[in-house]
Amino acid sequence: MKVTATTKELKTEIEGEKASHFLEDILAGLRQHPKKLESKYFYDRRGDELFQKIMEMPEYYLTRCEMDIFKNKTAEIASSIRAEQTPFDLIELGAGDASKSIYLLQYLKQQGTDFRYRPIDISGNILSVLENKLKDNIPDLDIESLEGEYFDMLHKASQFSERRKVILFLGSNIGNMELEEAYRFCFELRKNLNKGDVVMIGFDLKKEPNIILNAYNDPSGVTASFNLNLLQRINRELNADFIIDQFEHFETYDPLTGACRSYLISLQEQQVKVGHHIFDFKENEPVYMEVSQKFSIDDINKMASQSGFQSHGNISDSKEWFVDAFWTAI
Ligand code: AVJ
Repeated sequence: MKVTATTKELKTEIEGEKASHFLEDILAGLRQHPKKLESKYFYDRRGDELFQKIMEMPEYYLTRCEMDIFKNKTAEIASSIRAEQTPFDLIELGAGDASKSIYLLQYLKQQGTDFRYRPIDISGNILSVLENKLKDNIPDLDIESLEGEYFDMLHKASQFSERRKVILFLGSNIGNMELEEAYRFCFELRKNLNKGDVVMIGFDLKKEPNIILNAYNDPSGVTASFNLNLLQRINRELNADFIIDQFEHFETYDPLTGACRSYLISLQEQQVKVGHHIFDFKENEPVYMEVSQKFSIDDINKMASQSGFQSHGNISDSKEWFVDAFWTAI
């Protein structure tokens, strides 16, 4: 009985800590000029659902391209990460529902590969969806999921394992960081790995600008709802009073820098209360929500070499719109 109570207390404590990070980050973002809300907070239950809707949209090519790679080039992926058949931990950062990696997991299992799967995600909700799905589809898979921020969980995953690590960071999730941040992330990632460990990172490539813009500016308004949902989440969880109709989704793509950015525009001058804090919005004031950075092959190789990795190949989809890059820690 005592043990149960302690676990419960610990759980509430973690929940409390998470909530206060959320509040602090939102307040800090709204105090900035220009105002900014962090896209990592998009993924509550409703946000997960909306992102799954985005992935099904005809305009959102990214998932289909990477799916093409995972379905049709599975053997190539496997040989790029297997390195001398040694057992490894396959750690997926931002695993989501593992809709792509499941093809790799199945293939590796069929080949009798000795590995353990450790999905990491900030959404506990999506991790339980994932666990159920994998239990049904690959019953003998050795899986242990970790809910939290990437590096906290990567530390945790490393503590209890001496095995070689293979890191998956798919879906162009790296694109959600500003470029300098992405560099720092890769550098930090390298610090958490040993020489010879392998990373596989999904990058969305620079391409015809309208194709990119349309993927984030769908006429059906799913992406708009995805962005606006964060205001709803803030209302619900942080006792705020955003009037959702008074904000409009606005998307840009800059072919010079490869940055696709989303904003919510305040449609009128207004005041919004978050807890007991009050924020003023001017008419047409933007709130910067998200960057989805696009890359060239040169951009990718440069990022590898500047952060302590050696590139050992890129696998792209049949349209050559997306690549999964394979880097070895050197
Ligand atoms: C989850 C980062 C891959 O930036 O393409 C989709 C998130 N935002 N539509 C992306 C997103 C708007 C997505 N990633």
